[in-house]
Order: sequence, then C-alpha cells, then structure tokens
Amino acid sequence: MKGIATVNFKGGVGKTTVTWLLAKYAAEKGKKVLVVDTDAQMSLTLAVQLQESGAMYGEFENWYENQHRRRNKTILNALEKYDRMEGGHFDFPIDASFIYPMGENLHFIPSVVDLYWLELEVFDREKVKHFIRALLGKIEHTRGFNYDYVFFDCPPNFTALSYSVLSCSSLILIPVNPDVFASRGIGLMIDGLRYRIQPWPNPNIAVFMNKAKLYRGNLTRETERYWTESKVVCDEKRRDGVLIETWDSFIPERVDIKRAIPGRYFPREFEEYFAGLWQNIERVLSQ
Ligand SMILES: Nc1ncnc2c1ncn2[C@@H]1O[C@H](COP(=O)(O)OP(=O)(O)OP(=O)(O)O)[C@@H](O)[C@H]1O
Ligand SMILES: [Mg+2]
Repeated sequence: MKGIATVNFKGGVGKTTVTWLLAKYAAEKGKKVLVVDTDAQMSLTLAVQLQESGAMYGEFENWYENQHRRRNKTILNALEKYDRMEGGHFDFPIDASFIYPMGENLHFIPSVVDLYWLELEVFDREKVKHFIRALLGKIEHTRGFNYDYVFFDCPPNFTALSYSVLSCSSLILIPVNPDVFASRGIGLMIDGLRYRIQPWPNPNIAVFMNKAKLYRGNLTRETERYWTESKVVCDEKRRDGVLIETWDSFIPERVDIKRAIPGRYFPREFEEYFAGLWQNIERVLSQ
C-alpha cells in the first residue's frame, strides 16, 4: 500500500480535482484505491455528495450522517483516539462506518468540518506525526480493506494532519498552474516542508502542470514559459538533494473537468492526460 499526497500551499491549483480523477482512473485500471479527504474545507466530500444531475447523492449522505458521524467514526475521531491512547493500543476498529465504498475498487474516507480544530494546534504534532502510519497499518491488517494506493487530498495550509500525511507518503504530487506564482511557490513550499517535517523523510516529489493552456493541441508560449521557470526551480532543489522530478505530462484547462468529479465514471476525454500522469506515478513508485 503506497501513500500519494497531493499538496500545494497555493489554493485552487486543482489538488482536489486531480487527486479524485487520478484515483478514479487507477480504480478503473483495476487498482484498489482509497482516497482520504484531509481538508477541513471538505471540497471533495461535498463534491462526491453531488450526483451528475446536481441532486444529492442520497446513499452517501445517509451513510455520512447516520453511520460515519453518529458512530464517531470520522478521521477526527480516529485522530483523537490516537492522541489519547495509552499503553500503545490504538483502539479504532476499521469497518464500514469509517470507509465508504464508492465503487468496487474505489473507497473513500471523507472529511469533517471539525478538522478546523487542527489549526488551533490542539494536538501534539510530535505525537500526531505517526497517526497516518498507524492508521494505514490498521487498515492494511483489516480483512476487506486492502489497497494498492492511498491518495490524500491535502488542504492549502499545513496542519498537524498534513505533517502526519507527508511524513509517511511515498510520493508527493505538486500540481502547479501556468502563472507567475508557480515557480516561486514551488521553491517556498519545498523549503517550508523541509523546515517543518523533521526528520525530513526525503520523499519522492513530482511537479506537473494542471490548467495548462493549449492552442491547436500545443502548449501556448506563455504556458511553456511558466513551465520552464518551474523546472529551473526544481532543478535547483534537485541539486540541493531533494528527490524532485518534473513531469511534462500535464492536464489542460478545460471547463468540463468540473462535471467530471461527481460523475460515476472516469471521463474518457481526459484519458490521455491522466494516462501520462499515471505512467509516471507507477514508474516512480516501483523504483
Ligand atoms: N484542468 C482544469 N481545467 C479547468 N478547471 C479546473 C481544472 N482543474 C481544476 N479546475 C477548477 O479549479 C477550481 C479549483 O480546483 P480544486 O478545488 O481542485 O483546487 P484545490 O487546489 O483543491 O483548491 P483548494 O486549495 O481550495 O483545496 C475548481 O473550480 C476546479 O473545477
Ligand atoms: Mg482542494
């Protein structure tokens, strides 16, 4: 089971969109996939509640309120149990009220709005650091919940939960947009992560473009320029010892991507782009 976290402290670059579509893509290719929404904004959780028609996805909604929340089986409840545990026993059984089956190969752990508490630093960061590792260990040892990949949709800020996710992910995906903030943002973010996550686990990091602008099937000159700037910054970080790659496989800016999240199936019109990304992911993770 390999952890993949999508991160960028810049908001709105497409973390949630890319995470969900990649997960759907991998699940349709036969991989067993778990997606965890770790963002208190709950974008992904709210998105999966919507059906293509815009109507609420009743079954999920009912499960969320009556099983997940009412039975204290949210990710925050798990974190609280872990934080308060004594004697090394993490008492949080993994079951069908914690993980929701979106489809045979695609399972989901939603977010809760109370995750905002994490910003108040109510949890001890050092202790919480190993929470995700412990949780994944539990999941791995529970019958019926075995996965090839676990995707984490991370918030645009850095919380104790992000700390825990990033300390034990095998791959960190950084989507950037073709704009003036991309290259500066990458540099600041890598430095910020290295400073905050101690000891630095030296994970594989991959940077690629989302919302790439195309003209007649090719990247526009402006998009090319911003991407080249981003690659220069990543090259510097690589020389500095960071295991960072830049992937030329990109996702174009397309308005119909919004409809693709609540849809039941992976949208075919995006297949070639996600195939490129997925190939890179599997290559890095099999090293
Ligand atoms: N390739 C794309 N083409 C067009 N629109 C896109 C694309 N990717 C994402 N978007 C849109 O950009 C907006 C932000 O996307 P998303 O919520 O995935 O970003 P995010 O990085 O997760 O944001 P946050 O930082 O708030 O978590 C959404 O409206 C989404 O539909
Ligand atoms: Mg998001």
